[in-house]
Amino acid sequence: MGAAWPERTTPWPPRSAPLFGPEFTRDPLAYYEALRRDFGPVAPVTLDESGAFRGYLVLDHVYQLEILRNQGQVWARDSRWYRDLAEGALPLDHPLVPQFAYRRSRLNAEGAEHTRMAAAGNQALGELDLVRTRDLVEDLAHQLVDAFLPRADADEADGAAPPPEAIEVDVLAAYALQLPLLVMMRLMGMDEGAALATGNAIHEMLSGGPGAQRAAAELDELMLALVTGKREDPGPDLVSWILHHNRDSGLDEHELREEVWLQIVAGRGASTTWICNTLLELLSNDDLYADVLANRCSMDEAMNHVMWVNAPIQNLFGRWATQPTRIGPYRLDVGDMAIVGLGASGMTMRSAGLDVSRTNNAHLAWGGGNHGCPARDLGRLIVRTGLEVLWDRLPGIDLAVPREKLTWDLPYVARSPAALPVTFPRPSAEPKDATRWTASSTPFTSSPPPATSTEERERPSERPGRLPRWRSLVAWWPKR
Ligand code: HEM
Repeated sequence: MGAAWPERTTPWPPRSAPLFGPEFTRDPLAYYEALRRDFGPVAPVTLDESGAFRGYLVLDHVYQLEILRNQGQVWARDSRWYRDLAEGALPLDHPLVPQFAYRRSRLNAEGAEHTRMAAAGNQALGELDLVRTRDLVEDLAHQLVDAFLPRADADEADGAAPPPEAIEVDVLAAYALQLPLLVMMRLMGMDEGAALATGNAIHEMLSGGPGAQRAAAELDELMLALVTGKREDPGPDLVSWILHHNRDSGLDEHELREEVWLQIVAGRGASTTWICNTLLELLSNDDLYADVLANRCSMDEAMNHVMWVNAPIQNLFGRWATQPTRIGPYRLDVGDMAIVGLGASGMTMRSAGLDVSRTNNAHLAWGGGNHGCPARDLGRLIVRTGLEVLWDRLPGIDLAVPREKLTWDLPYVARSPAALPVTFPRPSAEPKDATRWTASSTPFTSSPPPATSTEERERPSERPGRLPRWRSLVAWWPKR
């Protein structure tokens, strides 16, 4: 880049398919199947009516792996390589365009630069004590369930009409959207005030409304304040550990802020969708439901099944060719976009007669190669714990509307329903002396990082006592 774009040598194929519209939104799997029949392992697709927004959707598992591994250094994840964007051909008001915007972070770096940018963040993730983190997730999950369950004794006490036998809740809004974000903010060591401001800014930014840009700038400020604060006063949290390990990587202030931002935003999105999609699968697939209930199938296996049949991240936008190349039958020019269709991967494996069982975890739902997810254990832990708490606390949980009646967000990146209403029998009052879960009194990294200065400095206190219960945060959640 920097030099003029080379002459195009390969024209856009004469035949392409739309990757938008109600059919695609309603049943992406059937849509991918039809594309596969029509085009084979790679389908040229357009992403809007104008046809200017276009790329090659890679449906086949083997080609997907080849792109993600990127062994020939053919592909870049940096949208400055997107020729149609650079040349102004793209409609800038398309909802996906802001997601492409270049950020100076590991997400857009390759090779040695990616290694440098990813090192401190990955090492910090390695400091997490997953047993303690599980306690944290469980605590927050219970608080969220408590917040939407009516209190049995309150209803009895005020002598009002008997409460309904079944309760209906949108578990996406009341639970799945909140849990991963709360966990990530707590792991970053935010206090309740900063977490509240961060949650509001993320919500506003992702809503895509008129305040989205201002919210994105506010979020950057909040991340900067968090990093600066932890440098002054490190604690047993991910930000302090990122700063500690950064002594070898040399990330500047901006890059540090980007890493924290990325971990929070990436940690939140796919975990939310994975909770929803697994719950939906459990409640609409009788065999799976019966097997999990009878413990013939673990929650982990049910989650793995979903990675094949309704992956939380459906499509990776994008990978841009940095040199002329070929995928399947198509030749691509420098600056052409490949879209890695993770959501189609299970279908292509099955049609090739391969095993996509609950225990085969060769799926690509975590991505692959250098950019593959560095937080698989953490992601799995958040989702599994979140599902287990729901499963235990809401026996008899069922969908409130048939699966076919759910409305879905456009399945470009993450695929989740716009709402996931469930019903469950009203729980009976808990026995008075029930000993439910008690919160951990220990932090979730083994200790705060050692002080970085050569001067002897006072060791930060180990935040004694219970984890904050974050009641007001759990009560807060902007309505969608
Ligand atoms: C729970 C479900 C999760 C799923 C399914 C998931 C999936 C993915 C995928 C597919 C990618 C690759 C993106 C690409 O190649 O374009 C990725 C990258 C990433 N994920 Fe996750 N993720 C999950 C949870 C998390 C969590 C909890 C974190 C928290 C730290 C996280 C942090 C990241 C980061 C930092 C990257 C960028 C890696 C890089 O470019 O070096 N993810 N994830």
